[in-house]
Amino acid sequence: MRFKPGFCRICDHPISPFMDFGDMPIGNGFLSLDGFETEYFYKMKVAVCERCFTFQVVEVPDPKKMFHSNYAYFASTSHYMVKHFQEMSERLIDDLKLDENSLVVEIGCNDGITLKNFVEARVPSIGIEPSSNVAEKARSKGIKVLDKFFNLETANTLVEEVGNADLFIATNTMHHIEDINSVFAGVKELLKPKGVMVQEDPYLGDMLKLVSYDQIYAEHMYLWSITSLNNVLARHGLEIFDIERNKFHGGCMRYYICHKGAFSPTEQFLKQQNKEVKLGIKEAKTYHKFRLMCEESRDKLVNKVSEIRESGKKIVGYGATAKSATIINYCNLTCEDIPCIFDSTDFKQGKYSPGAHIPVLPAEQFKDEKPDFAILFAWNHFKEINDKEKDFERYGGEWVIPIGQLPK
Ligand code: SAH
Ligand code: TYD
Repeated sequence: MRFKPGFCRICDHPISPFMDFGDMPIGNGFLSLDGFETEYFYKMKVAVCERCFTFQVVEVPDPKKMFHSNYAYFASTSHYMVKHFQEMSERLIDDLKLDENSLVVEIGCNDGITLKNFVEARVPSIGIEPSSNVAEKARSKGIKVLDKFFNLETANTLVEEVGNADLFIATNTMHHIEDINSVFAGVKELLKPKGVMVQEDPYLGDMLKLVSYDQIYAEHMYLWSITSLNNVLARHGLEIFDIERNKFHGGCMRYYICHKGAFSPTEQFLKQQNKEVKLGIKEAKTYHKFRLMCEESRDKLVNKVSEIRESGKKIVGYGATAKSATIINYCNLTCEDIPCIFDSTDFKQGKYSPGAHIPVLPAEQFKDEKPDFAILFAWNHFKEINDKEKDFERYGGEWVIPIGQLPK
């Protein structure tokens, strides 16, 4: 189902944008030369619903334009993320006492970064993944995957064909889905009475704090908070009973979700819920301030790039992230400003960045390029990349962080 712009996708309340980022290409839409002419753009405006407080991109492209057989994001590119999801899987298997009689369903299973751990532990699992190229990668790891968009209909089919789930996982996925009500209606049908859903995504509170506005793009059409998520869950007889924060992707919140009343809420969940309200996530002035801080961050980056260019020094990009499309296009940076972006994903190398068409080169070539400055678009992988590229700073290179601040 598609939605009318101007109304909240969760509760249908009228919404009005507090910020306009201008015309945006699809964040993961890396192109070959022959794709330039037909590149798709949408108007990226953001709003916060005054009724359910969901932070959302107002108008987004058809999901089939974003998730298909040429999807560019391969989750297992980062060793830190591989380890993070291995630890998560091992803990869930222990805590929920999962075994060969259990069922785990994961949506957005991507290249199998998480489900491979359940396959290894012999816990039955199934992935739902509409991007068929990454789904194929997961299958090569022995994972059962359906090439589908998860929604109420898919959930009903799963219940009929494989039964109800003990565990439902959605990491970095629930902010990608336009018809989120249909997803939670599906979760309601699919979860066993004492089943648990684990959702993890970049947290609104961290984005506001770091001014990491590059977390916003069509695929990341929501920035969830405890408040907004609990409002949508309440519509479906579900609720959060526990949370955990972590530093991945610039600050994520993990939500543990169950049928209403199935488990008692934890202290830390109640505490964080109050804390975010005190931080102002329900107040319009918070978002007005955020907009001003984004403009300030944009001007700072644009000035820094101009200064570097005027001084004749060499500047490149590092990490052809989907996030970088928001920064590059909002700041109107071009190939003249950044001649290339280095990245370790085979699929992106040899292609061009969305919108500005900056060439993406293999990360191994970064050392030979010897730039004076590198804009670290993958700032969320700072430690992993800085360890890999130790020589860069040693020989006087400087990372430029394109957002307000790095997470501490
Ligand atoms: N879970 C991985 C990958 C997240 S990327 C991680 O945490 O790193 C988001 C994934 O969600 C993509 O692979 C995309 O194809 C998938 N996706 C988008 N819409 C979906 C939907 N309706 N149902 C299931 N998966 C979806
Ligand atoms: P990421 O920040 O995870 O996500 P998104 O695309 O959603 O913004 O993307 C990381 C990108 O950085 C990905 O294209 C791979 C690249 N990368 C490297 O080039 N080297 C590395 O060491 C790591 C960890 C990532």
